Amino acid sequence: MRPTVDLNSLERRVRQKIQGVPQWFWVVTHPGFEKTVAGEIKKILANSTSFVQDSLHTSFGGVEFQGRLEDMWRINAVARTPSRVSMRIAQFKATQFPELIRKIAEIPWELYISPHAQGQIQVTSRLSRLIHTDAIEERVAAGMAMHLGSWQAIIPQEALPHTLPQTILVRFESDICTLSIDSSGELLFKRGYDKFTEEAPLRDTLASCVLQLAGWDDCEQLFDPMCGSGTFSLEALLSRKPSRWPGSIRRFAFEEWPYFRLPAYRHMLQNLKPAVPFLPMAVIAGDKDSKAIETVNRNLLELNLPELPIKVSQQDFFKAVPSELPADFKLRNRTLIIMNPPYGIRISQEFPQLFQSIGDQLRKHYTGCRYAIMCPTPQDAQSLGLKWARQAITKNGGLEVMIVCGMIP
Ligand SMILES: C[S@@+](CC[C@H](N)C(=O)[O-])C[C@H]1O[C@@H](n2cnc3c(N)ncnc32)[C@H](O)[C@@H]1O
Repeated sequence: MRPTVDLNSLERRVRQKIQGVPQWFWVVTHPGFEKTVAGEIKKILANSTSFVQDSLHTSFGGVEFQGRLEDMWRINAVARTPSRVSMRIAQFKATQFPELIRKIAEIPWELYISPHAQGQIQVTSRLSRLIHTDAIEERVAAGMAMHLGSWQAIIPQEALPHTLPQTILVRFESDICTLSIDSSGELLFKRGYDKFTEEAPLRDTLASCVLQLAGWDDCEQLFDPMCGSGTFSLEALLSRKPSRWPGSIRRFAFEEWPYFRLPAYRHMLQNLKPAVPFLPMAVIAGDKDSKAIETVNRNLLELNLPELPIKVSQQDFFKAVPSELPADFKLRNRTLIIMNPPYGIRISQEFPQLFQSIGDQLRKHYTGCRYAIMCPTPQDAQSLGLKWARQAITKNGGLEVMIVCGMIP
């Protein structure tokens, strides 16, 4: 058979079996924020005719939905809360290694991945007879090589370009093997610009989850008084900047899937519109540390968006009330004060009353504003002495944190 004939038929099969029919996608979330991410997905795909609304459901650490590849492009390119999006390839039972290799080799891998692509296989396994992750990885690699070997001879390297590594995800649960391919590439908290960080930075995706939980969408002012490298402030600003969808300035692994339709993707990016019209806004970022202020300013320079409505100043949260905050009480419920205070053994020894003092300061000077605070423990949240309307428990840098949001009385 001539290679060109095979390439044409391969393209047709990709269009029919992958691009032309709904696929299952798994969206990884920060634990505790599954509903927040599901809400963002619903908003972004509200007008999509291929998104299967009823398919959307949450489970621990993720959200699953069915839609076409274009829906997955949109979530990668626009959503600010998810960590990564993968597409399901196959699901089957396997309890022995020869069976696993045989079933893997039967999968039409050429529809999902260039036979020359570089990549990795990530395995998890629980409650299964095949439990040794290294051994599973070895067999999956062997099965894939058996299948893709012949395609390497048919498809020249240049026919399906590949510079982005691809990741195959293998999950065994109660002897059921689920295989997926990662569509995002670098995790989605990488927004496409070189961000400088301070100690204990927050992932941009987690900052967005907290902003969503706190209801940033209908706020007009953000005060970020312990801003560190400025993740909350930058996320808040970028979330209202349509020319800066994460996808406008970064690449994704799906861009190198076989027969990726670049013109259609570019067209989608150019025609993206915010789900709801953006409100006007202002952001005030502060930190007592001059180095943190330098870092925020470097990040703003790196973003190269001089028109962003932000004021950055060095100030101690306990000593000053920013003059830019609205004196008008009516506007105050449109102001969100968001904080990720320092924590750790040293802080709790040097400043044991930190969270109590934060609560006192908020009640004294910021009546009527909304707040969202990340607390290392539920006791710290209680120490604030504030009622909260919403809460989430998640992990930040491997440590559990409790986020509480509400109105300052
Ligand atoms: C955990 S870091 C914040 C990290 C930030 N969310 C980020 O993504 O980079 C806490 C910050 O609070 C600042 N800070 C601590 N006490 C402060 C105070 N009294 N007033 C203002 N900033 C303070 C520290 O300098 C530090 O930058």
